[in-house]
Amino acid sequence: MRAAFLRSLPLLLAAVVLLAGTAAAQPCTVDVEDPNITGDFEGASGCAQCAPGNATCKECWDRFGLSSEGTCVPCNVTSDFGSFAVKCDGDDPSIALECISECRKGWCTGLYATAEGTCGNCPDENAAHCTTLNGTTIDCNPRSTLIDGVCLSCAEENCDDCTGDVTVCKTCTKGYTKIKRWCVEEKA
Ligand SMILES: *[C@@H]1O[C@H](CO)[C@@H](O)[C@H](O)[C@H]1NC(C)=O
Ligand SMILES: *[C@@H]1O[C@H](CO)[C@@H](O)[C@H](O)[C@H]1NC(C)=O
Ligand SMILES: *[C@@H]1O[C@H](CO)[C@@H](O)[C@H](O)[C@H]1NC(C)=O
Ligand SMILES: *[C@@H]1O[C@H](CO)[C@@H](O)[C@H](O)[C@H]1NC(C)=O
Repeated sequence: MRAAFLRSLPLLLAAVVLLAGTAAAQPCTVDVEDPNITGDFEGASGCAQCAPGNATCKECWDRFGLSSEGTCVPCNVTSDFGSFAVKCDGDDPSIALECISECRKGWCTGLYATAEGTCGNCPDENAAHCTTLNGTTIDCNPRSTLIDGVCLSCAEENCDDCTGDVTVCKTCTKGYTKIKRWCVEEKA
């Protein structure tokens, strides 16, 4: 009897260690809805998708960073425009990995995640959006157009859209009428 117990002891110990191991792992729970949309960051786990087995998180919602332990940590980028960070380093949530532009009424302050981990202004001041790390212009704000990677201002001063050719206005600013390729002020 005693011998039998001793023989099964290693097995028992192994079982205890295994059980303790599973109990120690933080079970992953997902937020069914994006906390950035519900506005409920307090009660959020920040996880959008758990890894197989549900012990860790695989993908966090925007504004959370995935830590090396597999948890989602709220982003806390303290640089200028830090609140525009949508992805950050879960092991150091002050480091921005992806930023969104600040857009209002169809005009954007182009922002991108810099190599320093901040949300910085796009190098091209007329850029509405630019790529992470190198700040390459993706698109331009109204009244300018992307030509060979640079936002060039429309030749016509009162032109909102000169896509593809600065000298050809497609849409004039409100209060101006398009006459051929020019924008002429509407007389009251
Ligand atoms: C997060 O929410 C804010 C305000 O509710 C919204 O302006 C912004 O576009 C949202 N960002 C994302 C990435 O969904
Ligand atoms: C993981 O969690 C999901 C949702 O809570 C559940 O449907 C699934 O069965 C779980 N998988 C495992 C392996 O526990
Ligand atoms: C954000 O970071 C600052 C500076 O590191 C720290 O003082 C602050 O407590 C952090 N806030 C949160 C909510 O973690
Ligand atoms: C900038 O980064 C983008 C992707 O993030 C890449 O496609 C592009 O080639 C890069 N451009 C330069 C000049 O490094």
